Amino acid sequence: GKGPYPYYMLKEVNEQPNIMRKLTTLYLDAKGKPKIDHKLLDKMNQADRLYIIGAGTSYHAGLVGKNLFEKLVHIPTEVHVSSEFAYADPILSKHPFFIFLTQSGETADSRVVLTNVNKMHYPSLTITNVDHSTLSREADYTLLLHAGPEVSVASTKAYTSQIAVEAVLAKALGEVKGRQIAVDFNLRHQLSLVATGMQSVIDQHAKINQMAKKYFVKSYNAFYLGRGTDFYVALEAALKLKEISYIQAEGFASGELKHGPIALIQKNTPVVGIITQKKTAALSRSNLEETASRGAKTFTIVRRALAKPGDSFILPDVDEMLTPLLSVIPAQLLAYYTSLNKGLNVDQPRNLAKSVTVE
Ligand code: F6R
Repeated sequence: GKGPYPYYMLKEVNEQPNIMRKLTTLYLDAKGKPKIDHKLLDKMNQADRLYIIGAGTSYHAGLVGKNLFEKLVHIPTEVHVSSEFAYADPILSKHPFFIFLTQSGETADSRVVLTNVNKMHYPSLTITNVDHSTLSREADYTLLLHAGPEVSVASTKAYTSQIAVEAVLAKALGEVKGRQIAVDFNLRHQLSLVATGMQSVIDQHAKINQMAKKYFVKSYNAFYLGRGTDFYVALEAALKLKEISYIQAEGFASGELKHGPIALIQKNTPVVGIITQKKTAALSRSNLEETASRGAKTFTIVRRALAKPGDSFILPDVDEMLTPLLSVIPAQLLAYYTSLNKGLNVDQPRNLAKSVTVE
């Protein structure tokens, strides 16, 4: 049941710190070495390219995974929306390895791709929350998310669990390849920082509720901006908001704004900047200011080390590869409180089903 929570979504958002701790003990030993089946790692080690396939929020988790695999393993990684990839006649590399991200393990769009992959005898892994689900049974390997049942239609804990499992896998494969950056990546420590950091964000729910009221509740549109992994989180943040609050929310790459979307900015349009990456922080800030100077109501979600006076929401510091695990939490809660304050059914938004078993 929901326990003391009015909606499953809030319960599931609140479960995330403990899930990070659970995944740490299940997937990393006391010395921080990944506990991943060596047969899976051998198979992945033979690949020349990874293909991550998913839909919706799982696709967004895949985008974050690309950064982890490319940094820690140095393997080219493509991320595709399953419904598109299924009919795209893709030109594959010589030795592809497929990773399916799916909370439910039942998404028809993703299953079509896996069926084709199996016909071609390419190796595959499903990362899912549901043991014995269809995509788990049909792939060569499975890694479980161990997030517990996700009931709310809006996916939250599955997204962060998927990223955490991708991080474990990327570290494991990077170590197999003898990559020093993977050996040095102290994921055990980082995930404990993430868990504590998530909790400190969740503890600021009253402030986030106020921000939802001030920026979103009366708005018919809203924008999230970011660069790199911050852009990937902007896509997920916008999806969460549109799903349960029915606000037309979009995530944009900060630098793309001036190539079109900035035409949408009017007086009081809410624009959220996600800023966690050192290399792009200054550019992201100036892109955000360009919207402010056109009347946007801007606010920032910023990693502490990059914070400036006037920033709206400060995130605790973690490794830059893992900041999506923290920056997504205020976005999940902003969506939650916007939906709640609008009096909507948070857990069961219109037109949506929890698992989409038709193409
Ligand atoms: C968004 C959401 C959907 C799912 C998508 C894929 O909150 O829940 O976008 O992420 O339908 O579902 P799975 O991960 O079960 O394949």
